[in-house]
Amino acid sequence: MSHPHDHGGTIFAAARQLGVTPAEISDFSASINPLGISPRVREALTGSIDDLVHYPDSSQLELKQALALHHDLAPDNFAVANGSTELIYNLPLLLPGKRALIISPSFSEYVHSLNQHGWQIRHLTLTAENNFAINLVELEQALAGGMDALYLCNPGNPNGALHPRGVIQHILGLCRAAGAFLVLDEAFMDFCEEASAKHLIVQSDNALLLRSMTKFFGIPGLRLGYAVGQPDLIRRLDALGGPWSVNTLAQAAGRAALQDREYLQSTRDLIERERQDLVRKLELIPQLKVYPSAVNYLLIEIRRGPTAGELGELLLRQRILIRDCSSFRGLSERFFRIAVRTQVENQRLLDSLGKIFGPND
Ligand SMILES: Cc1ncc(COP(=O)(O)O)c(C=O)c1O
Repeated sequence: MSHPHDHGGTIFAAARQLGVTPAEISDFSASINPLGISPRVREALTGSIDDLVHYPDSSQLELKQALALHHDLAPDNFAVANGSTELIYNLPLLLPGKRALIISPSFSEYVHSLNQHGWQIRHLTLTAENNFAINLVELEQALAGGMDALYLCNPGNPNGALHPRGVIQHILGLCRAAGAFLVLDEAFMDFCEEASAKHLIVQSDNALLLRSMTKFFGIPGLRLGYAVGQPDLIRRLDALGGPWSVNTLAQAAGRAALQDREYLQSTRDLIERERQDLVRKLELIPQLKVYPSAVNYLLIEIRRGPTAGELGELLLRQRILIRDCSSFRGLSERFFRIAVRTQVENQRLLDSLGKIFGPND
């Protein structure tokens, strides 16, 4: 059965289709840490099982304290949720107004959640030719059309482009001048934390930051995300999730994940090294164009050869999943996204792509 939400990470459906187990598939379609669950998180999960006889700690105090320490902010700057998607779905209830501008291509759930609440949506579509940079003059004009909210994902998904903090600061000013609220989604910022705008956002009463713990910490099946902002706004957002949306295991996992400095460092080192290696090797295939990325995924354009959908079919037969990006606004059937995975898996993908695209011409 098809689902209205179009995403990567459809590994269970692919496994059913191929008649194999999910473990036999290399999933490059969802951008998840290839190191898997950190040993400290695993320990925290198994060690918390007996706590499941109680309701979860609805204050999530220890997790908020761990987040505060990790980000050098205060516990009341954080609202924790059952994945950042829950926050995305609750936000339209909190935001005043009915008109949103979305910087696209981007995460499709912004549109779905705003639609549920009757918002009118406009898009400012960034182009591949410009490496997905934001034209600030165009943005100012678009905001002046009477926008109540601006949704921006940094680094961008599916393109991986990082907008520098100076640009975010400028955009915050544009939003303030236009009377628009900024929703800044930093779902993948753990991979380049130094570029985060968190300290700017907590000084603004017209902005909120969204972070996900599912990608960097490899726990999308557990669900954990949070918002960063001023305490008043955070309190109201927190209340929308109800008392127990973040279960005991997720809270324990979150605390342990933030304390695992070794995992944090080895993840950043691995992704940096493997991304550079993948880019270098992909660039040897002349039919492909790789877009610059600051994170753990790469957007690739097929200049000549099959469409991304056809390529996906060919790779699926080899038990490799990629993300066809043709459903993203501003991207054609020639774009696909891959996650950066371990060296062995990346090499498997490169070998398969090498066979499909033939010897260099
Ligand atoms: C840009 C972006 N934001 C938010 C999310 C939601 O993440 P989660 O709900 O797993 O925290 C995703 C998931 O793919 C994403 O790509």
